[in-house]
Amino acid sequence: MTMKKILITGGSGLVGGHLVQLARAKWDVFATFYRHPFSFSGVHAVSMDLTRPDDVHRVVEKITPDVIIHCGALSDLDLCEKEPELCYRINAEATGILAELSSDMDCRLIYTSTDMVFDGQKGFYSESDKTRPINLYGKAKQDGEERIKDSCPQYVIARVALVYGRPVIRGNSFSEKILNRIQNGKTVFLFEDQYRSPILVANLAQALLELVELPFVGTLHLGGKDRVDRYTFGLKLAELKQIPTSLIVPSRMQDVETAAPRPLDVSFDISKTQHLLKTKLLGYHEGLYQI
Ligand SMILES: NC(=O)c1ccc[n+]([C@@H]2O[C@H](COP(=O)([O-])OP(=O)(O)OC[C@H]3O[C@@H](n4cnc5c(N)ncnc54)[C@H](OP(=O)(O)O)[C@@H]3O)[C@@H](O)[C@H]2O)c1
Repeated sequence: MTMKKILITGGSGLVGGHLVQLARAKWDVFATFYRHPFSFSGVHAVSMDLTRPDDVHRVVEKITPDVIIHCGALSDLDLCEKEPELCYRINAEATGILAELSSDMDCRLIYTSTDMVFDGQKGFYSESDKTRPINLYGKAKQDGEERIKDSCPQYVIARVALVYGRPVIRGNSFSEKILNRIQNGKTVFLFEDQYRSPILVANLAQALLELVELPFVGTLHLGGKDRVDRYTFGLKLAELKQIPTSLIVPSRMQDVETAAPRPLDVSFDISKTQHLLKTKLLGYHEGLYQI
């Protein structure tokens, strides 16, 4: 029996890499890279530039996938603020092109959006809460969501919380950044006043692949079950890895100058997702034991 084809954009990234690894058992996997070519057993690695509509057409029309999981993104918040045009081309316009192609090909599209579509004033956001991004990354991802809803009947907008865990191919997660700095003897300043619902990358990939096979259409929040600030998360990580916590120092968002404004509390209500999925979304205590 021939396997169905799945196209994972951003296969060379943190989330895409985990999807590539997991999907191989069941799917004929095509995965894209841009600046970082990779090879992975049993996977077709394909070059694609999301800033070039002709290139996106070329890749998708050649593969004719049954499903696309769109993880390709310009995900650096501060770079997005400094390069607004590039941010829009990659995060909004390319998403629109993929939505149109998916519609033409009768292909299911899972789009990884972000908790940054919220302004952070409320916290514990559910899927029906109004979006109001405060930085360009969030605005472009929100624009991507709108383009998908406008033109793709078989869609899932999977809003993803802060991701942690070890990369499979490459990509830098929040927990890796903390561990790398500490291992190099450097101090890590972590916000004690920003709240998220961190999710383990392997757990996220499992949830996304479960979603591929469900008939669900709409928006879902994919986060871990705990709301936590970055400082508390960092202390728990250090404790579990038996690393001295003296290099982890609390900071407040107002004391750090960043190009992109950060929202205060973009934690998720994940009850709708948990009702739908068999995959249990782990809290950070459970998740950190697995890395
Ligand atoms: N990581 C998080 O904490 C987090 C939180 C919320 C939402 N998300 C969302 O989850 C998804 C995956 O995030 P991630 O952490 O895996 O991102 P990542 O590690 O930064 O990977 C980004 C991917 O996009 C590709 N890419 C960048 N520019 C491109 C271009 N011009 N053309 C084609 N591909 C390009 C990169 O390819 P190369 O490396 O080969 O250049 C890489 O494969 C994104 O949609 C992101 O917005 C992530």
